[in-house]
Amino acid sequence: MDPGLRRDDNTVPTHIAIIMDGNGRWAKARGLPRTAGHKKGAESLRRAMNACRKHGVKHLTVYAFSSENWNRPADEINDLMQLLQHYLRNELQTLHENQIRLRFIGDLSQLDEHLREQVDETVNQTTRHSQFNLTIALSYGGRQEITRAVQKLAKDIQAGRLKPEQVTEQIIAGALDTAELPEPDLLIRTGGEQRISNFLLWQSAYTEFYFCDTLWPDFGESELEAALQDFSKRERRFGTAGES
Ligand code: IPE
Ligand code: IPE
Ligand code: MG
Repeated sequence: MDPGLRRDDNTVPTHIAIIMDGNGRWAKARGLPRTAGHKKGAESLRRAMNACRKHGVKHLTVYAFSSENWNRPADEINDLMQLLQHYLRNELQTLHENQIRLRFIGDLSQLDEHLREQVDETVNQTTRHSQFNLTIALSYGGRQEITRAVQKLAKDIQAGRLKPEQVTEQIIAGALDTAELPEPDLLIRTGGEQRISNFLLWQSAYTEFYFCDTLWPDFGESELEAALQDFSKRERRFGTAGES
């Protein structure tokens, strides 16, 4: 462990978000079906989560399936959903052992009922854990999330529970799926693309971005440590004049 990455050091992000990209290309390079890349990617998630816990990060939010990913071939979508079912079944013990609270963000109403029940059940079983927070963005899109929040607030206004002038940034943030979460300090995207692809649009207003070429199935502890190292050198100003 790098001596610069101490647990009590505020240069360690509280919340890391990851766009786990590159599974398909990883598989293609090996002449394997895309699903093989997704399967391998689940192992990377395990490694990344362990590395986050080791370094004192409290929240990890991962982009597993976007609103736009529903446009992929049905076979690939089915494989991804099955993989998620396996993941939930296999990880529950680890979540308990390490006191990890699991959450989901996204429009879960689009999932099939069986999977949705399994998701709810697993999430509910971890609500008392507080050592670490894993949030999976599933059927998630930032624009869709904001749209749902606006609809909810519009209904509150229509019903007389809220006045238009009472709509503040805090009220909007509280109507998002991420209401309970701090904003991400660091957003990592693997796979070489440098775009946000509809992830955490509202929440990443002042997030530090880190892009790497490593394909997600190849991402491990040392890649996460490189991102932490990079983050520790950033000067976050939040619009102020800074220290210099
Ligand atoms: C990310 O990997 C996983 C999902 C979007 C579900 P991709 O499947 O997008 O992999 P590439 O970008 O095609 O390599
Ligand atoms: C973003 O990756 C979504 C996830 C990683 C789940 P995509 O592969 O879907 O994004 P684009 O299409 O390259 O922007
Ligand atoms: Mg991709």
